[in-house]
Parts: sequence; structure tokens; C-alpha cells
Amino acid sequence: GDPSEIDYVLAWKPPKGEIKRYPNLKAILSLGAGIDHLAEDPELPSHIPVSRLVDRCLTQGMTEYILYWVIHHHRYFGKYTEISASKEWRQIPQEDARRRRIGLLGLGELGRDAAEKLANFEYNVAGWSRTPKDIPNVLSFHGPEDLKPFLNRTDILICLLPMTTETHGIINKKNLAQLPEGAVVINCARGAHVVDDDLIKALDSEHISSVVLDVFHTEPLPSDHPFWWHPKIIITPHMASLTVAHSAADYVAENIRRV
Ligand code: GLV
Repeated sequence: GDPSEIDYVLAWKPPKGEIKRYPNLKAILSLGAGIDHLAEDPELPSHIPVSRLVDRCLTQGMTEYILYWVIHHHRYFGKYTEISASKEWRQIPQEDARRRRIGLLGLGELGRDAAEKLANFEYNVAGWSRTPKDIPNVLSFHGPEDLKPFLNRTDILICLLPMTTETHGIINKKNLAQLPEGAVVINCARGAHVVDDDLIKALDSEHISSVVLDVFHTEPLPSDHPFWWHPKIIITPHMASLTVAHSAADYVAENIRRV
């Protein structure tokens, strides 16, 4: 068709330079929670509004993913799988959820929902964000000075930060060293939040006990990447929360109405 007849772009990761081909756009609507993949396009027209997707199913999916892996580690289900594989009958002492310190990096649309639901499950929940947040039963840490004390009290770290110049590579050697011995790291934000080599070293030194990764610097994760065969890394293919069409459509329509 005629590119000048296009009013709205709905996109996940369009090729760079694609969006500027439409001269009469009124808005660019991301089909995901983030907009970093759109902002990366150096030729993205700067006068057109860009919206992220804030959607019930996207939020619910992320919270499910996080609850699943928190419970997995809290109740040692990974260890029980290993134990039963060797036909052993052995119990591991059960911990009090109130003593399990969960830390969410990022308390935006997704982080807040996960924090609230984890707190409802009685976990000891804290979050770190740019500005202070007031969420019932969730300890709020904010700004660069609070990062260290936040990490010091976090047994299970979950990254849900947006990708910005400040958050790029935040899961690095220095910050991993601030986590208590045996901590777990879950990244469901962006691959570039993690310095891959630092994470592997922290696992190999047993400072970090287990890692769950949904996102990677290069996606699909290249078949020769060491993450694939690391015994302490669980990999999922950027599916922590997928856009559900029937639900997202309502939000997209509403954003078009607003424009
Ligand atoms: C997925 O990663 C998203 O931004 O929705």
C-alpha cells in the first residue's frame, strides 16, 4: 500500500530505518512492555509519540514467571529433582517465607505487581527504583546510594529494570559481590543488564547458587554460548511474559483513541 496512508505503527522489533518510511504517522505503539528496541533506531522520527504496552495479561504473565521461580528456589524444587533422579528419599529443612528476602530491581508497572503478590505470599520483599515507592509491605530502596544496602539484604534478586544508560550492565561483578553468599539471580528484563562473564564467574565461585535467564545480549541465544551448558543456569526463550493478542488489542485501541 501507500506508506503515506499509514497512521499508526504497531511493532515489536521493526528493522532499523523502517518507521521513518511512513510520513504521516500519528503514533508508534510498542507491542511489548519496553520501548528500548524502538528507541535504538537512530532514524526513529522524534516528533511522534511512542507508547509502551501496559496490559493486564503482560503484567500477570510476568508475575506468574517470577512467583514460579521464587517458589522453585524457596522450596528447593531444583534440588528435589536432582535428589529424586538418584532415587534418594531426603528432605531439606523448610524455610519461613518471611525470612526469604526477595529483591526486585525495578518497581515499575511489572515490578510493582510482582512485589505486591510476593508480599501477599508472605515473602520479605524489597524493591529498588529510581524514586521511592509506597507499596504495602514492600521495603523501598532508591537511587544509587541505596543499591548496596538493597543487594546486601537480597537472597533472590529479580531484575525488571528498563534498559537505560544507567541500568546497562548493572548485574556486574561489583554488584553481584554485594549479594549474600548463595543468592539466586533471575533476569527477566533485558540481556544487556547482565555482564555475562561476571555472572558465570560468580556462579563458578559458588557465591551465586542459581540463575534463571529469560533475556540475552543476542536473541536467540547463540548455540555456542556458555550459558547453554552451565549446570546452574536455567534458560527460557524470552517468554517470561508474551503479548496476548486479545488483551493487548484493547490497550492498543485505547491508546489510539487517546492520540
Ligand atoms: C518484552 O520483553 C517486552 O518488552 O514486552
